[in-house]
Amino acid sequence: MMLHNEGSTTVLLQSLVGSALSAEVLPDVDIGSLPPSGHLAKVFDAVPHTDLGVRRSRLRDSAGAVVSENLITFRRSDRDHVIPSGDTPFGLHTRQLGLFERRRIFAVGVTTDRFGMLPAGSPGRAYEIAFSNRVTVLVHEVFNPRFLTTGAPASASVNERSTADGARAVSGEHHQPRWPDASEAEHVRRVLRHVDPLVSAADCRALRSVLATPAFLLQAGDCAETFRDNTPRSVVNRVDLLRTMSDRITAASGTRVVTVGRIAGQYAKPRSSPIERRGDLALPSYFGDAVNSVNFSERGRTPNPRNLLRTYQESSKTLSFMAGSGVFTSHEALLLDYERPQTRRCPDDGNRYDLSAHLLWIGERTRSLTGPHIEFATGIANPIAVKVGPGCTPQDLISLHAVLNPDNLPGRLTFIFRMGRAHAYERCRELLTAAADTGLADRFVSDPMHGNGTTSARGVKTRTMRAIEEELHAFFAACQDTGMLPGGVHLEVSGDDVTECVDADIDDAYLADRYRTACDPRLNPGQAVRLADLVGRLLAATSAVEPALSLLA
Ligand code: PEP
Ligand code: CO
Repeated sequence: MMLHNEGSTTVLLQSLVGSALSAEVLPDVDIGSLPPSGHLAKVFDAVPHTDLGVRRSRLRDSAGAVVSENLITFRRSDRDHVIPSGDTPFGLHTRQLGLFERRRIFAVGVTTDRFGMLPAGSPGRAYEIAFSNRVTVLVHEVFNPRFLTTGAPASASVNERSTADGARAVSGEHHQPRWPDASEAEHVRRVLRHVDPLVSAADCRALRSVLATPAFLLQAGDCAETFRDNTPRSVVNRVDLLRTMSDRITAASGTRVVTVGRIAGQYAKPRSSPIERRGDLALPSYFGDAVNSVNFSERGRTPNPRNLLRTYQESSKTLSFMAGSGVFTSHEALLLDYERPQTRRCPDDGNRYDLSAHLLWIGERTRSLTGPHIEFATGIANPIAVKVGPGCTPQDLISLHAVLNPDNLPGRLTFIFRMGRAHAYERCRELLTAAADTGLADRFVSDPMHGNGTTSARGVKTRTMRAIEEELHAFFAACQDTGMLPGGVHLEVSGDDVTECVDADIDDAYLADRYRTACDPRLNPGQAVRLADLVGRLLAATSAVEPALSLLA
């Protein structure tokens, strides 16, 4: 039975069933008529429970079949706050309220008696949910077994393949995984076509509007998020760090900052090699938790399309942890099997939006003008970013602009320059000059990290603060010299005190201490804040010369 997720049950069930579910609220039950339960005493202490209420509801699929039934017991004084008044499913309601939740499971098993319409022998569970504002409820939930899947791992025939076959099996074209079981992948796409949107089209438009102003963009977060680290604590640490960085940039420069996380969906990675070798063993590389596992084993590295559903569920959880943070979400639109099904037409403006995140970016490796990623991006109305490296010519930039932002609208398109410190000034200056001459309304941002990777003596991937700072200086100088607005920075940071990037000297003992990243090395909070202060100073200095430039123009 696949029900070990602790996120919102409705969302999980919708993704398992593959269609939207409707909730039906049943008449209140008298708490006194319920069989005595040890769970009640565990959650609400003393008996009798005169101040308790019970909400009884069902979820039905689109054909009307009952998928689950649940009883939520709550203190009557909490009713207005946490219990939906209409037929909204409880989980979606609390998610919309942005409540943080922690669950304690009391029982998981099969029912011995009929529970509402569901017969004895249905899978069920009882658990307590404690919300951030101290409201606590007790949930008894029973599922129609017909709607649950077994969540079986990848098929045995895949595991028996030779290593070389396994490696070839993942290295599809355009960095798309080659799923071993095509029908399973089709099932997953079908499910994703019916899940609730993770973000709203209105919020995508709101971000586009802010990006159309001179606000400075701070885009930062993990290189690769992981399911394991998707905890309330980790999310709060990341969001707190982003807010601190944004406040410091504003304080130093007087410029408004719009904050976008690499968060709630950054689970897929393009890799330079499809195969990773350790000793005599060669296995498929790790392509992010959305595809396979970081564990270096045949089974771990086999792509499993079910990871796309888990990506959706985990992203939904992250969003509930960060609710009310004022931080927009973004990730690399790499896996088209994840992005395409979540693209929906918005009835308000008739446009199509990829509702897996507010902003999507196309990576340096998949930005080919004739490739499927750029084609996908042309079909959605979200704000879009494209990463460009030192190989991007002015003509490439203008061509990308022409397909992605043909109406030259401010707020639609952002170019993220990731040049490497050695050539950053010349490359940025060349592209910015072309952009200025052509009158592009796009935004130009510096990613001073991805062109500055290096390896330690022991072979650990790292980046030096010195190189990152040098590329930032070069970017701001190129903006100043071309009269273009420095549009933002794109960084890889962790909310935890990791030891992945170094100041100037590469020290393997330091790196070995708390090196936790699943992919590229991230700045820790101390390094990230230092960099934010530098960005604030550079921005202040660049803005100061702006009037002079416009006078000259
Ligand atoms: C990334 O942002 O983690 C990444 C892969 O970047 P790029 O496309 O610039 O290499
Ligand atoms: Co990275």
